[in-house]
Amino acid sequence: MQAAAARTSAVARVFGAHRAGAVRVAWRPLAVGAALAWMAVAHAASATAQSTGLDLAKSVNCLACHQVRDRRVGPPFAAVAQRFAGQPGAADYLAQSIRNGGKGRWGAVPMPAQPQVSAQQAHELAEWILSLAKQPQVR
Ligand code: HEC
Repeated sequence: MQAAAARTSAVARVFGAHRAGAVRVAWRPLAVGAALAWMAVAHAASATAQSTGLDLAKSVNCLACHQVRDRRVGPPFAAVAQRFAGQPGAADYLAQSIRNGGKGRWGAVPMPAQPQVSAQQAHELAEWILSLAKQPQVR
């Protein structure tokens, strides 16, 4: 019972399913497996997380506008990590924000939506960005 509840909440967290009913229905057959895979990736942990996060950011074109330490069109990912450090729900919020884009939070330039990024990728990116606050060596 408890394990099932924990799994459900993990799935909800990964896919933001509590906020997107339609998405949840579509994802349900894959959700548990994908969530477990995602958690395995998260657990495979710090050593590989850095290069994996950066590779993913490259592959979905974030680095056209962002760098880890330097400002380009958008804020440096390390500054985002600092702003949200220790805030509950930050990964969920940032995952949404990565897919939807937005404006007025860091300056005058808006960030366009990134529909090429899946919900799962957005979460991986959000977790990676947040991890940068504790990884000053990543550039
Ligand atoms: C076309 C340029 C552009 C691309 C491509 C882009 N961003 Fe952004 N990003 C921005 C700008 C500009 C902002 C600041 C928006 C604002 O002030 O609200 C921003 C803000 C952010 C934030 C902070 C959001 C917040 O709520 O504080 C995150 C996180 C982020 N981007 C991640 C990403 C990731 C991950 C990708 C790749 C999938 C990406 N961005 C692709 C321009 C871009």
